[in-house]
Amino acid sequence: MRAMRHFSVKLNDGHSMPILGFGTSAPDKVSKSKVEEALERAIDVGYRHIDSAYLYLNEEEIGRAIRKKIANGTVKRDDIFCTSKLWGNFFRPELVQTGLEVSLKKLQLSYVDLFLIHFPVALKPGEEILPKDTDGKLIFDAVDLCTTWEALEKCKEAGLAKSIGVSNFNCKQLEMILNKPGLKYKPVCNQVECHLYLNQSKLLDFCKSKDIVLTAYGVLGSDPEKEWVTKNYPVILEDPVLNVIAEKHQRTAAQVALRYQLQRGLVVLAKSFTEKRIRENFQVFDFQLTPEDMKTLDGLNRNLRYFKDTYFADHPNYPFNDEY
Ligand SMILES: NC(=O)c1ccc[n+]([C@@H]2O[C@H](COP(=O)([O-])OP(=O)(O)OC[C@H]3O[C@@H](n4cnc5c(N)ncnc54)[C@H](OP(=O)(O)O)[C@@H]3O)[C@@H](O)[C@H]2O)c1
Repeated sequence: MRAMRHFSVKLNDGHSMPILGFGTSAPDKVSKSKVEEALERAIDVGYRHIDSAYLYLNEEEIGRAIRKKIANGTVKRDDIFCTSKLWGNFFRPELVQTGLEVSLKKLQLSYVDLFLIHFPVALKPGEEILPKDTDGKLIFDAVDLCTTWEALEKCKEAGLAKSIGVSNFNCKQLEMILNKPGLKYKPVCNQVECHLYLNQSKLLDFCKSKDIVLTAYGVLGSDPEKEWVTKNYPVILEDPVLNVIAEKHQRTAAQVALRYQLQRGLVVLAKSFTEKRIRENFQVFDFQLTPEDMKTLDGLNRNLRYFKDTYFADHPNYPFNDEY
């Protein structure tokens, strides 16, 4: 079933990306086997874009789910759009391809459709995801992100990644890559937190002006159980204004939250490991929010960030100090 073919966006390198992606990161306490089961359901429902990452420690399960769905004839490899992300331990240019190959092996794939720099902070190479010194301080690595980008370009040329992009970059960091002397390929996308309470309108305008897709994560307000998410923040899906609009369209708050971003021209990610919600989140292509609804929803923005990633706050590349 080539369900997502009609719902794709053309990237600046000529490839296409389905505009609704299935998120795969879950709180540490959730068993890794859950993602395998959920992804199989998601592929059955019609999702073709899978957002994974080395950091999520579940690429083996994702690879198994994809293999099963190819083996039973539900999809072919080229129906699937699979993303992975390079974590900071692999930012030295000589380690980038190794980082990608580690993910490819776990995913049982010969290439990913999209490979992203996950977060613009380099960390000490090695197995530890958050390497710390004896005082418990994070050990950073001094790597020029432009050299990391050049190594990603080589991965694209080697056919290991069809497209390359970034995640959690601010405007200045995007400009640094775009203005890099000898740039061969622009990032096709910047994947960032984006939802009704953090609508990223300036970053969106900037990305549109450069033909870079903005991909939104946390659209449903994420999950406060996640280690990286700020606790006790307002819950998007309980927002009364959102719920009035949802009721008017006889849709759920989640469907309207997703549809809002799609109508703004973003690619959206939605994570659910619950079968009913996996289906619900996919039912966003058969209704339309009015211009008034969109305006009302624009008004909910309050620049509230669930993922502050404060581990990295004292690093010069920490991306969230600037306005956007
Ligand atoms: N690049 C990055 O740095 C970065 C950071 C964060 C996330 N991401 C990616 O983006 C994906 C999405 O972000 P996210 O997982 O943080 O958050 P999200 O998709 O905004 O929200 C997920 C949460 O919403 C619940 N949910 C899903 N559908 C729902 C519905 N219809 N009604 C009510 N609740 C619903 C889920 O619960 P159940 O599972 O129990 O249904 C889960 O707790 C991630 O999985 C990951 O792939 C990337």
